Amino acid sequence: MPPFPSGFLWGVATAAYQIEGAVAADGRGDSVWDTFGRQPGVISGGHTGDVATDHYHRWPEDVALMADLGITAYRFSIGWPRVQPGGTGPANPAGLDFYDRLTDALLAAGIMPVPTLYHWDLPQPLEDEGGWLNRDVARRFADYAGLAAGRLADRIGMWITLNEPFVVTAFGYALGIHAPGKALMLDALPTAHHQLLGHGLATAALRAAGAREVLITNNYSPAWPASDSEADVAAARACDALQNRMFTDPVLAGRYPDLGAFGIGPDGLSCVRDGDLAAISAPVDGLGVNYYMPTRLSALPGSPLPFQLEPIPGYPVTAFGWPVIPAGLTETLTTLRERYGSALPPVYVTENGCSQADVVAADGTVDDQGRIGYLNGHIRAVHAAIGAGVDVRGYFEWTFTDNFEWSEGYRQRFGLVYTDFETQRRIPKASFAWYRDLIAAQRAAG
Ligand code: FCB
Repeated sequence: MPPFPSGFLWGVATAAYQIEGAVAADGRGDSVWDTFGRQPGVISGGHTGDVATDHYHRWPEDVALMADLGITAYRFSIGWPRVQPGGTGPANPAGLDFYDRLTDALLAAGIMPVPTLYHWDLPQPLEDEGGWLNRDVARRFADYAGLAAGRLADRIGMWITLNEPFVVTAFGYALGIHAPGKALMLDALPTAHHQLLGHGLATAALRAAGAREVLITNNYSPAWPASDSEADVAAARACDALQNRMFTDPVLAGRYPDLGAFGIGPDGLSCVRDGDLAAISAPVDGLGVNYYMPTRLSALPGSPLPFQLEPIPGYPVTAFGWPVIPAGLTETLTTLRERYGSALPPVYVTENGCSQADVVAADGTVDDQGRIGYLNGHIRAVHAAIGAGVDVRGYFEWTFTDNFEWSEGYRQRFGLVYTDFETQRRIPKASFAWYRDLIAAQRAAG
């Protein structure tokens, strides 16, 4: 692997609901994922995050493994329903205590904590008031951000507000395949604006509480037209607007992209009020980029969503069926640079990784060569983007241990560490050793 700039962050990423379990411990309230998962048939295998990897109790073992891995930064998320069980009001001290202990243990191990405030676990009482369709939730989110940072910003410098608001809007409110399970199609668009407003208000609250660096994390996917027909090119442009621009243009350029393909006229979304875009475009110190694969699109005339996804043949696929295309990560990063120019802050790849059908061999090892190939290709793709002039400052592999993969339950294994969900035994996979050696070599060179 060629050398990365010195100080480049090497990390792993996780999310509270996917690992913590202990859903009723120490006063935690229900989130939309608790409620959603209790409905029959919505999550593969009838799984829930009730136990997950039991990280809430096993975190010392997990931090020790992270120290062994040699990561310099750890991206985790803070569970809003632990901090504010009802989504409003004063903090639940026991909930914050958990993240306080985790923070101290990470720092003692020489690992920089990088919390995300919202990785999809909205307190259920806020959903009962409309969730992200309700503008007030943006203000609630800022209150929560202030409480979390009020307790932790003396030791944590870098904060991420939202994780993948596009997925919340698209999967949670438009299609209904994620919590809260609403299938509103384009009527879900106000959830995009309210999340972005939440990001803007939370940015101010974080800074007021002493946070030094504030980021937002989006997922990006190059939108490739299925053919060079005008219709398919327009379909790709529409998808690009929705997925890649809708949650980034307002933050970095202070305006929404053209949403004409979705029947939104030049006056824009009717939920946008005076002053909102100024709050949303308050300067950020970094952009979090999650990348898994490109998207290929053809036109779907007459549908509210004027495009449909097409397979991308000719590449290996992950257990999820996602095509493995490292060049798409370089394209993502260079496109951001071309699109936003000097308005693009430093970039951090805050998620990238793959699911594989990992098995424990008779000798107790897990030989996940496919994941090593995936990571090797994608980390080189990041290096290529740096070579092309993009200021990328960190890479967080998704994910540390196999965990609860949302609607897929426990059947998609993304971890560097195998989780035996019966016993909660952790078994570092071959990719763990590979990543450990890579980080050690980079740190020695840097
Ligand atoms: C991303 C999510 C993360 C994980 C990966 C596989 O969209 O942010 O929680 O589920 O996909």
